Amino acid sequence: MKKICVVGTGYVGLVTGTCLAELGNTVVCLDVVEEKIARLRAGEMTIYEPGLETLVRRNVSRERLSFTTDADAALRDADFCFIAVNTPTIAGGAAADMTYVKRAAADIARHLTRPTVIVNKSTMPVGSGDVVYNVAMENLRDSSLSVAVVSNPEFLREGSAVQDFLQPDRIVLGSYDLAAARKVGELYMPLRAPIIITDLYTAEMIKYASNAFLATKISFINEIARICDGLGADVKEVAAGMGYDKRIGRAFLDAGLGYGGSCFPKDVKALAHMAGEAGLHPQLLDAVMKINDDQRRVVIQKLEAALGGADSLAGKTVAVLGLAFKDNTDDMRESPAIDIITWLLERGASVRSYDPEAIEAARRVLPTDGVTYCADEYDAATGADAVAVVTEWKQFRTLDMERLRSVMRDPMNAPLIDGKNLYDPEEMARLGFSYQGIGRGNGRRNGNGHNGNGHNGHNGRK
Ligand SMILES: NC(=O)c1ccc[n+]([C@@H]2O[C@H](COP(=O)([O-])OP(=O)(O)OC[C@H]3O[C@@H](n4cnc5c(N)ncnc54)[C@H](O)[C@@H]3O)[C@@H](O)[C@H]2O)c1
Repeated sequence: MKKICVVGTGYVGLVTGTCLAELGNTVVCLDVVEEKIARLRAGEMTIYEPGLETLVRRNVSRERLSFTTDADAALRDADFCFIAVNTPTIAGGAAADMTYVKRAAADIARHLTRPTVIVNKSTMPVGSGDVVYNVAMENLRDSSLSVAVVSNPEFLREGSAVQDFLQPDRIVLGSYDLAAARKVGELYMPLRAPIIITDLYTAEMIKYASNAFLATKISFINEIARICDGLGADVKEVAAGMGYDKRIGRAFLDAGLGYGGSCFPKDVKALAHMAGEAGLHPQLLDAVMKINDDQRRVVIQKLEAALGGADSLAGKTVAVLGLAFKDNTDDMRESPAIDIITWLLERGASVRSYDPEAIEAARRVLPTDGVTYCADEYDAATGADAVAVVTEWKQFRTLDMERLRSVMRDPMNAPLIDGKNLYDPEEMARLGFSYQGIGRGNGRRNGNGHNGNGHNGHNGRK
C-alpha cells in the first residue's frame, strides 16, 4: 500500500485519486480551492461523473481517501506525488500555460521529507518533464533529497472517466529514470493493461498525438458531412460503411458540431504551437482547427435557412437542448453550446435551454440576458419557433416527439436542427418536423431510392 498525494482535485485529479484509493493505496487529494475541498469533505460531489460518487464514499469510509488544502500534511511523506492541475491555453495565445504545473512542482519540493516520484498526469508540452524536475530541484527543502519525474499522461474521457481509468487501453510511462517508471507501473499492475515505458518527451508526445488524431477524425467526418449535405448522401451511413474497415474503425466518426471540452481544443492548439516553435508548419492541425471552428456555425446557418433566411432569427425563440460539451458530464469548457447561444443572442433571438446536469455550470459562463433555463426538454420547447439539439444526452434520443412538436409555437412548421444526428430524418419528417441533421443529405434524399440529383441509387433503408 503506497502513500499518494494527488495535486489538483479537478476532473482528472478526483478520478485519479479515487481510483488509486480503490486499488488499495492511501490517497490524499490536495487543492488550493478551499470551497472545493470543503464540499468534498462534507460528502458532496464537485463534478458530475457517473460512478464516481460511490467510489468516493467507499474509499473515504475505508479511510483510504481524504481531501485537504494543507500541502504540508498531504505531501510530506508521499511515495508518489501526482500532478493533475490544469494546463489551459495561455491567455490570448496558443501555448499551454505551465504556471499551475510549476507551482505544483515547487509546492511538492518544498514539503517533501523523503525521496519521491513526481508523476505528471496533467497534459504538458513536450519537454515539461524537464521543467518539473528543474523547478522541483530548485525548491527542495532539503538538498540531500532526490526526486524522479515520470510522465504518465491521462487518456480518460469525461462521462466515462471511472471506467476509462480502471479499464484503460494502455498505460504510458515516460522517464529517464527507469526504476521510477517501473515503480509507477506497479501502481497500475492490478489493472492488467498494457504498459508502455518510454522516455519523457516521447510519453508527453504520445498524449498530444493521440488527442490530435482523435480531433482529426472528428474534423474529417465533419468535412465529409458538409460534402454529404452538398451531394445528397447520408454521413451516418457513410461512417458506418467506413467503420467496418478495421484500418479505419467506427469510433470518433460521428459528424456533429465539432469537438469541445477541456482537452481537444487546447491540446491541438498547443501541439500546433509547439510545431511552430520548432520551425515547422502543422498544415493538418491548422485545417483540423479551422474545420472545427466553422462546424458549430452550421447550426445557425440551418436555423436561418429553416426560419426564412438571413436576419430571420431576430425576435424568434430557439429551444437549445443540451449545454454540456458532451453527454454524461456537467463540463461546459469550450462547449459548442456557448458559441451557438451567443450567436443566437447576437442575432436577436432568445433562448430556452435545458441540460440534465450542466445548467449550474452554464449559468456561470453564458450571458445572463436572453437565456431561460428550463425544467425539461418540453418546457424548453414550449412556445419555441425552432429546436436545436446540441448535446448527445441519451434521454434526448427517446423524447416524446409528438409532445415536443405540439408545444412549439407553430407545430405545423416545427424546425428541429439535430446537431448530433440523434434522430432518423424520415421518421422526423413523418412526425411533422422540418428536420435537419448534420450531413444527412440536406433534404436532397427523398427516401424512394433517388437522391434528388436525378441519379438512381439505393438509399440504404428499407
Ligand atoms: N478533463 C479531462 O477529460 C482530461 C483528460 C485527460 C487529461 N486532462 C488533463 O489533466 C489536467 C487537469 O485537467 P482537469 O480537467 O482535471 O482540470 P480542472 O481544472 O478540472 O482541475 C484542476 C485542479 O487543479 C487545482 N490546482 C491548480 N493549481 C494547483 C496547485 N498548485 N495545488 C493544488 N491544486 C491546484 C485547481 O484548483 C483545480 O481544482 C489538464 O492538464 C488536462 O489537460 C484532462
